[in-house]
Amino acid sequence: MPKPVLVAPSILSADFARLGEEIRAIDAAGADWMHIDVMDGHFVPNITIGPDVVKALRPHTRKVFDVHLMIAPVDPYLEAFAKAGADIITVHAEAGPHLHRSLQTIRGLGKKAGVSLTPQTPEIAIEYALDQLDLILVMSVNPGFGGQAFIPAMVEKMRRVKALIGKRPIQLEVDGGVTPGTAPLCTAAGVDVLVAGSAVFKGGQYAANIAAIRAACA
Ligand code: DX5
Ligand code: ZN
Repeated sequence: MPKPVLVAPSILSADFARLGEEIRAIDAAGADWMHIDVMDGHFVPNITIGPDVVKALRPHTRKVFDVHLMIAPVDPYLEAFAKAGADIITVHAEAGPHLHRSLQTIRGLGKKAGVSLTPQTPEIAIEYALDQLDLILVMSVNPGFGGQAFIPAMVEKMRRVKALIGKRPIQLEVDGGVTPGTAPLCTAAGVDVLVAGSAVFKGGQYAANIAAIRAACA
């Protein structure tokens, strides 16, 4: 039996005026992880939330906080996100010259370490980081905004990353444009965790939307 896919709603598509309530709602709707997008207006052309907001959200759910840092530099902020309650901290391979050090720091803080690749970064960039990784996040849109169209060429990258992972205990995650239409392409390529923003929050039917993504992959 293959492992069931995990669904991680991105709170980027939530109502920011009611974030605590939104987190509780997606928890009740069957979310496996909470995907939290952190943007700095420098590494990506958008600004979202910082460690204080993550800390404020922490008491609202016991589910895994999957924190996706789209910031550069990233090292000065790792401890703050760890203390705020992140369980997985993912940094971008493109965010700085010292990925090895960032991953070492994350594990040193007792958290799971992830790396994310923007669409133009080849998987070979992380070959020497594999032993330091708990998660690899393949971006299927250019990071910065929700609601963008899935880039089909990323399916092949997911396959290659899966092959690179081999038998290592590393989870493969995809983020960007994931819908009931694109999710099965990702799971067929070996993806373990689906991040979805718009597809989960649209129309306010969170449970039905999460179920539709799962059903499409079954
Ligand atoms: C984009 C973020 C994504 C985004 C996904 O930079 O990392 O998590 O919120 O949103 P959708 O699912 O709408 O593409
Ligand atoms: Zn994300």
